[in-house]
Amino acid sequence: MTQMPNAEAIEAWNTVLFDKFVQFRDLLVTNLGIHGVRAIERLAPSAGERIVDLGCGFGDTTIELARRVGPTGRVVGIDAAPRFIEAARAEAAHVANASFDVADVQARVPGGPFDAAYSRMGMMFFASPVIALRNVRAALRSGGRLCMVVWRSKAANEGVAVSEQVVRDLLGDPDKGDQITCGPGPFSMASADVVSDQLAAAGFTDIGFSRSDAPMRLGNNVDAATEFALSLGPAGELVRLAGEAGIARRAEIETAIRAVLAPFVRADGVFAGSSTWIVTATAP
Ligand SMILES: C[S@@+](CC[C@H](N)C(=O)[O-])C[C@H]1O[C@@H](n2cnc3c(N)ncnc32)[C@H](O)[C@@H]1O
Repeated sequence: MTQMPNAEAIEAWNTVLFDKFVQFRDLLVTNLGIHGVRAIERLAPSAGERIVDLGCGFGDTTIELARRVGPTGRVVGIDAAPRFIEAARAEAAHVANASFDVADVQARVPGGPFDAAYSRMGMMFFASPVIALRNVRAALRSGGRLCMVVWRSKAANEGVAVSEQVVRDLLGDPDKGDQITCGPGPFSMASADVVSDQLAAAGFTDIGFSRSDAPMRLGNNVDAATEFALSLGPAGELVRLAGEAGIARRAEIETAIRAVLAPFVRADGVFAGSSTWIVTATAP
């Protein structure tokens, strides 16, 4: 039987990651939101345009794009995980000019041709990014714009980096075994060199990278921030993959993460720097 290339990552998004995104939705929407709005402004949607939102998740950005293109425009949210699409359809039921489709972008981008393609953190999980980007380009009309937000390096996202490092110091590099993961991972498009080559190979032109920095809220206090780090992102992923060892050393791991996050505590919560690329390109 032929295995779909992103089957494992899609299963992860439809199960363990969907549940975590529901649990931490407020924090995630706030943290991704700052960069996402900057990218929407960079894309500058105009009334009447047709836009595709790639890896749309709960559809927050699809709804915002639909508002910006107005009643004569149309936005299609695409996600590979059926549970995200089900949630997005329910939340956008009142939005007449938004619709949603389940699709792996690496397999197809339905609904085109589009004037523009947008993505907030939905493009880092492909086994073959060039094939996925080629599908996006083919779904755009000639002159259509792509604008996507992706994480810059882990080191530039300091809350993530310090939490991962202490967990790695304690647990080493656990064997993934037969556990599911989200594939290449959230930092797979951190290199502007690599991504600009991928975009060029997919046939895009006018490729540009604009750095977006913003504080990332990790939680109301250090306990909440520790729980967040252990649930989502590389630190939590190491603990999950470590299985029994992760469970057995949980208290020790929590203490170590609390200690490295302590310097990030402010009066209004725990904040660390976050950094993304807003990537733009044109389909010739
Ligand atoms: C980090 S979340 C971002 C969700 C949303 N864009 C947001 O900003 O809230 C990544 C999203 O990409 C979706 N995704 C992962 N791999 C995909 C693929 N191959 N094709 C389409 N969507 C995919 C996931 O299901 C998930 O909803």
